[in-house]
This record gives sequence, structure tokens and C-alpha cells, in this order.
Amino acid sequence: MAQLALGLMSGTSCDGISAALVRFQRQTLRVLAEHTQPYPLRVSRVLRRAPTLTAPELSMLNMVLGEQFARAAQRVLRAARMRPTRLAVIGSHGHTIYHGPGDAIPSTLQLGEPCVIAERLGVPVVADFRPRDLAAGGCGAPLVPAFDEAFFGKGVTRALQNLGGVGNVTVVGRAIDAVAFDTGPGNCLMDLVVQQMSRGRMRFDAHGHLALRGRIDHRAVERMWRQPYFRQPPPKSTGRELFNEAWLRQMFSTALARAPLDVLATLTYFTAYSIAESYRRFIRHRLHEVIVSGGGAHNRTLMRHLARLLAPVPVHSIERYGIPAQAKEPVAFAFLALQALRHRANHLPHTTGARGARILGSVTPGQPA
Ligand SMILES: Nc1ncnc2c1ncn2[C@@H]1O[C@H](COP(=O)(O)OP(=O)(O)O)[C@@H](O)[C@H]1O
Ligand SMILES: [Mg+2]
Repeated sequence: MAQLALGLMSGTSCDGISAALVRFQRQTLRVLAEHTQPYPLRVSRVLRRAPTLTAPELSMLNMVLGEQFARAAQRVLRAARMRPTRLAVIGSHGHTIYHGPGDAIPSTLQLGEPCVIAERLGVPVVADFRPRDLAAGGCGAPLVPAFDEAFFGKGVTRALQNLGGVGNVTVVGRAIDAVAFDTGPGNCLMDLVVQQMSRGRMRFDAHGHLALRGRIDHRAVERMWRQPYFRQPPPKSTGRELFNEAWLRQMFSTALARAPLDVLATLTYFTAYSIAESYRRFIRHRLHEVIVSGGGAHNRTLMRHLARLLAPVPVHSIERYGIPAQAKEPVAFAFLALQALRHRANHLPHTTGARGARILGSVTPGQPA
């Protein structure tokens, strides 16, 4: 029987809420509508300084985000001319405020109040996926590999590379056990440079056009590649706590202000370089294809670098499989939510480190009493 589910995701880029309406039938899926609702600038600024917010501010942010997620869901439903009552579930990842799996007391916090979403839409919401994995001894991440395994796991060996703020890969195929790790920066460093040089007028390098105007500094590429994270074997994950403005300043010093286009060109190349080299270092399986998703798949300069550095392995956008690039993660969370309602495990414990298979997510009923 076909089931409709809606997925909501807000990633490390703080660019907006990506939503997707999906029809699942057995081993197949169809994206009926999708949209990324950009955050108002003031919201994305608040999200970027989330670690410094006070308790009342965080409490309010949770409700504000809940409303924003609900609105993103309504918008996608409207685009598909569909009533919310047809949905089996909404899977909402929320926005990660803090993720500390390696702390003395491991913890993780995603905001975007599911009760608000359930109240506005009248649909059951599955949210808070990560804490259960953490409670079971896992890292609470990565979670998307369970989706990758379900929909790409029976084919040839492939790498599914997501390019959000951070880059992450899952390698799946019928002959292997899934492997997943963060490759390093995705768009986060490029976004920072573009926002700085345009004084906030531009949020990212649309289609990678700006990067074409700069020169790649290969010595800076070598310098960045020396960062110990890249030598650490998987499983591993990273984020803004490492690849941030301070790191950029350390790597480029005055070039940031003097030649921002060169820095952008270099970072665009480096993102592809760190992915290709990480594959070489850590993926022992022969890859038949690399499928790229996330907003970075729209960056043509980045995609061209990737294709060149990974040749002869073909590099394709996930759009070739009928999934719009930024819809991949919301589609995955729609699926994980459906699995939770079906009482099926919705993570791969050997990629998160959890003690065993669990059903991730808390369920908020949709109907009033
Ligand atoms: N048309 C585009 N051209 C180039 N880059 C883009 C484009 N659209 C989105 N992006 C990049 O993708 C990022 C958002 O990607 P997304 O998959 O939503 O990541 P996250 O999960 O971190 O939010 C933006 O910050 C930007 O860097
Ligand atoms: Mg995003």
C-alpha cells in the first residue's frame, strides 16, 4: 500500500527549511513536491549563534522554529494540492543546536517543537531521532545511511555524497556493509567567504560562478589537507566547531580580505579534493558511481572538480534518480518517520556505534483528543 509522508530538515548551513512530500510504495518512492523555505536573515543569524543563547531565548527559538517548520510543511502540501489528512506522518529532524556525542555526558539537542507542527497540521509527527541512538551508546549520527541502505543498498557499490554545510558520504551496495562518515567541509566555508565579501548581500556562490573568477592556491590546499581530521579513520563526524571562521583565518590570513575570489576558488576545489582523497584513503570498495545530493550539487564548479578528481568513476546529481538535490535529506527523514510508525529499526547501528537496532524518534499524535 502506498503511504504519503512529509519530511522536514534544517541543516548546518542555516539556509532554511527543506521540505519534501513523498509517496512511498514498497521499495520505491516518488517526490510529489519539495521546497526549501529560506530563513529570514535574522533567524539564520540567531541559529548561527545558537550555542551562546540563554535558556529563555532557546525556549522561544524552539517554538519559533516549530512555527517555521509547520509553515514549510503547509507550503509543500499546497504546492501538491494535498490536504494534510492524507499524510501518514511528518518526519521532522529539527535544527541541531548542539551535538556532543563525545562529551563526558553525551548529548544532542534539536529544536523545532513537534507539538506545534502536530497542532498546525493535525498529523502525527516523529521528531527527536538522535537522542535514542545516543542513549543506546551510539553517536546519534549519521542517520541518513538507513535511508541510503533501504533505497540504494541492493544495487552496485555506490557512494552517496551529501553536500550540505558539511560533506558526508554513505557507501552502499549489495555486496558490502554500509560505511558512512563526514568527509569534511561541504558548503560551509565557501558560504562564509561569499557572505563576508558581499557583506551579507549574497548567501552562497550560486551555481559556483564566482569561484570561476578566482585562482586556486594549491599550497593552501596542501595546508588545509594537513588538518588531522582528514587522517582520522571512520567512523568520524565534524562540523562548524572545526571548520569555521577561525580555521579559515588560520589557513588564509590576509588573503581572505585581499583576494576573496581566490580563496573561494581554492575552497571550492578543496571541498572536492578532500572528498576524492578521503575516498582514496578510506573506501576500499570499488565504486561504480557517486551520487551527489544537498545544495552543493547545484554548484557546477564544485561538481566539475569532483568529476575530474574522481574519474573514471561517474559523478551524478541525485536529481537523475528523481530526487531534487536539497530534498534528499527531508525525503530520508520522511522515510525514517514512517519506519518508526511501523515499529521498524530506522538506523544502522554499525554506522552510529549504537549497541543494537533501535526505533529512533518520539511520536507526537496528530489528532486532538
Ligand atoms: N544554486 C546553488 N548554487 C550553489 N550552491 C547552492 C545553491 N543552492 C544551494 N546551495 C548551497 O547549498 C547550501 C544548502 O544546502 P543544504 O543541502 O540545505 O545544506 P544543510 O543541510 O547544511 O542546510 C547553501 O548554503 C549553499 O551553499
Ligand atoms: Mg539546508
